Amino acid sequence: MMDVGLKNIKKYVLTKASGAGPALVNQAEFKRTNELRSEIIFGRNSLYNNSWLVSLLHQKESRHFIITDKKVGSLYASRISDFLYEHAINCDVFTMPVGEKSKSLRVFENLSSDIIDAGMDENSYIIGLGGGVVSNIAGFLASTLYRGINLIQIPTSLLAQVDAAIDFKQAINGPGGKNHIGSYYPAEKIIIDPEVLGTLPHRQLKNGLAESIKHALTQDWGFCDYLLKYTGNIDEPSFLDNVIVRTVNLKITLLNEFLNYDYSEMLPQYGHAIGHALEKASGYKLLHGEAIAIGMCVTAEIALLLGVCDEITVTDHYKVMNKFGLPMKIPNYISIDELLAAIRHDKHFCHGEMRSVLVSKVGSIDYSRGDECVFSIKDDLIESAVIKNCNRNVAKRSFCAK
Ligand SMILES: NC(=O)c1ccc[n+]([C@@H]2O[C@H](COP(=O)([O-])OP(=O)(O)OC[C@H]3O[C@@H](n4cnc5c(N)ncnc54)[C@H](O)[C@@H]3O)[C@@H](O)[C@H]2O)c1
Ligand SMILES: [Zn+2]
Repeated sequence: MMDVGLKNIKKYVLTKASGAGPALVNQAEFKRTNELRSEIIFGRNSLYNNSWLVSLLHQKESRHFIITDKKVGSLYASRISDFLYEHAINCDVFTMPVGEKSKSLRVFENLSSDIIDAGMDENSYIIGLGGGVVSNIAGFLASTLYRGINLIQIPTSLLAQVDAAIDFKQAINGPGGKNHIGSYYPAEKIIIDPEVLGTLPHRQLKNGLAESIKHALTQDWGFCDYLLKYTGNIDEPSFLDNVIVRTVNLKITLLNEFLNYDYSEMLPQYGHAIGHALEKASGYKLLHGEAIAIGMCVTAEIALLLGVCDEITVTDHYKVMNKFGLPMKIPNYISIDELLAAIRHDKHFCHGEMRSVLVSKVGSIDYSRGDECVFSIKDDLIESAVIKNCNRNVAKRSFCAK
């Protein structure tokens, strides 16, 4: 069991208004101390050893809501809701269509009104059961309904188990781009049961692995080495357990350092400025992990052009993506102009420049400029990196776990 905790203190300052009116104070302040804390439970079959869920929900005699998508719902929702029903716990299941397009204002609005109409109260729980799309929308619902109700996350895709659900960030997509509308809100519990990955399509497993590779490239040389040397199948339980535990440990280190903004916020965004842009420009044909895999390769080319890393570091990026059958090159149906236009909608884009950390050698980001780890990158440099990415000779995949 892992415990994730941090403190987030917000301060509001009132100053005396000039002119007429009562002047009770010259200066006053009030603050709310709000601790964001989530507990992670990891283990095979933890989803079905769920007496903890019964005791948690029994404390609140309210109506609770499982939010899921059609696919995951058909596989797992009734097993949980029937079990709760047997224990006299009221739990409704709401499903949304599968895929990124459901992370929208329209789906959010429909689910909000359905949940409120069904009898939500301030003690209700939202239970997000699904991949990262479900985790994000369930989290955002929990953070906004009645300004915050209880949240449990049960991530079922590898990507959600290593990343999307292991976060305080909740979001939906706006008309302009990815994750434009969101909040920081903790799940009370996050249940990771790798057993459910048995039904996850192979493409989705590789997709999730891209986020683990991101943490390996930026934080842990040994983990990257392990991935490069691994010779088994990608769906091997011991491999998946190892990948999940190692990635979650790397991610919670960052979450616990959340107040140290640049490092902990920007490191998990490695490859994402370009990745999010590719995801959107591809009309979401590229999955999130696939898009950030390409994004990391192009970002490594940027680092090489800037002299931040050497050639071996860049080839290691391509090698590890290639090994697990992830895409490495920008698809030719996306033009550089489309890409540059989409990058402008990245949340961290500032003063006309993309912002990103850069890997200096596998397992570390560049800190050669003191505390400053975020680089501002101009369009012409991105363009040169894209050309290098397109021209790079990548040997055909020689070995890859099935
Ligand atoms: N910090 C964060 O908030 C954060 C981090 C990383 C990614 N994300 C977000 O996560 C989303 C991507 O998540 P995703 O890749 O899980 O996509 P997803 O939620 O669309 O799930 C992928 C597919 O797998 C299916 N699926 C999920 N679990 C399954 C299972 N056990 N068996 C069979 N099928 C299953 C889903 O129905 C879906 O078709 C993106 O929107 C991305 O922005 C958020
Ligand atoms: Zn991501």
